[in-house]
Amino acid sequence: MNTLPSSIHSCGIGLRRQHFSTIAETKPNIPWFEILSDNYLIEGTVQREFVQQIRPDYPITFHGVGLSIGSVDPLNKEYLKRLLTLKKELEPAWISDHLCWTSAYGYSTHDLIPLPYTQNVVDHIVDRIIQVQDFLGESIVIENVSSYLQFKSTEMTEWEFINQVIEKSGCSLLLDVNNIYVSAQNHGFDAEDYLLAMPKDRVKEIHLAGYEDKTTHLLDTHSRPVTEPVWALFAKAVEHVGDVPVLIEWDNDIPELSRLREEANIAKNIQQKILGSRQ
Ligand SMILES: [Fe+2]
Repeated sequence: MNTLPSSIHSCGIGLRRQHFSTIAETKPNIPWFEILSDNYLIEGTVQREFVQQIRPDYPITFHGVGLSIGSVDPLNKEYLKRLLTLKKELEPAWISDHLCWTSAYGYSTHDLIPLPYTQNVVDHIVDRIIQVQDFLGESIVIENVSSYLQFKSTEMTEWEFINQVIEKSGCSLLLDVNNIYVSAQNHGFDAEDYLLAMPKDRVKEIHLAGYEDKTTHLLDTHSRPVTEPVWALFAKAVEHVGDVPVLIEWDNDIPELSRLREEANIAKNIQQKILGSRQ
């Protein structure tokens, strides 16, 4: 029986080490935190003890980059064992990772590398997601990534690829609205075409973040406020998927916690306005 809070709703914030002391001292009224699970896999670390300490006060979700679901390396069983142990200890509402690959031949790229959108890759990833879900004992959540290149071998659109992976594996979708916008600008497709093709009943969470405009392309740096066009696309996402929890990601040039809460409040207001007008 779960004894820890597990209800994920409204707009949460990504838990970052820079805010540990503020959170411990002020116990802010934040609906939930998403933790970067890869940073908590080792027992006895400061971050693991911190999250154990605040867990009774906040629902949490796990978000990782180490699954490397698209890699042709075997699944990393040691990584999965540690993730399972962490799951049993912290009881996250769900576990998410990215639809990409992050390692090859045993080496980590430390980057989210996109995939060629082919039927073979769909089948490969579906098989691996099912293995992961069997191991963890639950359905996982997979996030769409931003990208800066495309493959000549690609056979379908990214949104067709995502739909197939979700349908065939039984996983859910973490819809990163900023990633859609960044990739749409970089590759010249219509962000709304992508968004409206997403399987709305399978969206478990929405991500929002800020990018940097490098003039030749947009770079998903998570170092800035959410931009106006992404807020506009987010509003369309809420119209499409309804009442889904939203998370603000900010990983570089991290501001005070109060600034992140301002971003979360903007998201909450947009969400409430759209959902309220439906009633
Ligand atoms: Fe994201």
